[in-house]
Amino acid sequence: MAAPDGKQRRLTFKQRRRLADPIQDIVSFNDTESKIAIASHPIHAMMVAFPIALAFSTLGADVMYWVTGDEFWPRVALYAVGIAFAVGVLAAIAGTVELLMVPGIRIRSASWTHFILAMVLLSVLGLNWGFRLEDPVGVVLPWGFLLSALAAGMTGITGWHGGKLVFDYGIGMHGKVDR
Ligand code: HEM
Repeated sequence: MAAPDGKQRRLTFKQRRRLADPIQDIVSFNDTESKIAIASHPIHAMMVAFPIALAFSTLGADVMYWVTGDEFWPRVALYAVGIAFAVGVLAAIAGTVELLMVPGIRIRSASWTHFILAMVLLSVLGLNWGFRLEDPVGVVLPWGFLLSALAAGMTGITGWHGGKLVFDYGIGMHGKVDR
């Protein structure tokens, strides 16, 4: 290493031991600000509340049908999971545009993990909805219920991971971050 006086100095053991992350040195690493936003509030974050709440509501409606036998609940579940799927797809489009457009989001592997989790979740939501179209009451027990339980679990994992993007990596937040 060249010292201020121009002479070469050997790195100390402590200096050599310090690990460097070459990706963090890329300037665009810190460019994580949301581009698909209204007044700096990411549209994706605003939309995901609907599929999250409705996926759990679907499971709740299936449990209510199991407990009461009232055929009102399978109709609730059909609409809840259908709207969860539709709004989830719209939220995913907003998230994907963000993922592709913002360099600091695109460069982080955690963003792609969230993308994959979300794709699995949307597939389960879509399957759970399509499966119920013909006979919303007859398919609830056991397969509709099991699909709803799987969707609720995947929603928890995907939503938690989305929060990790925001709170651990500062993704989508207004202003630049330095991590
Ligand atoms: C292809 C699909 C998706 C992509 C590419 C994606 C991408 C992102 C990105 C980039 C963020 C950071 C905030 C922002 O910039 O908007 C985020 C946050 C988040 N995502 Fe997704 N997402 C997808 C689908 C989903 C789905 C289906 C859910 C529903 C469970 C979800 C739940 C969340 C949550 C809860 C946050 C944190 C929001 C906050 O607390 O501000 N994402 N996602």
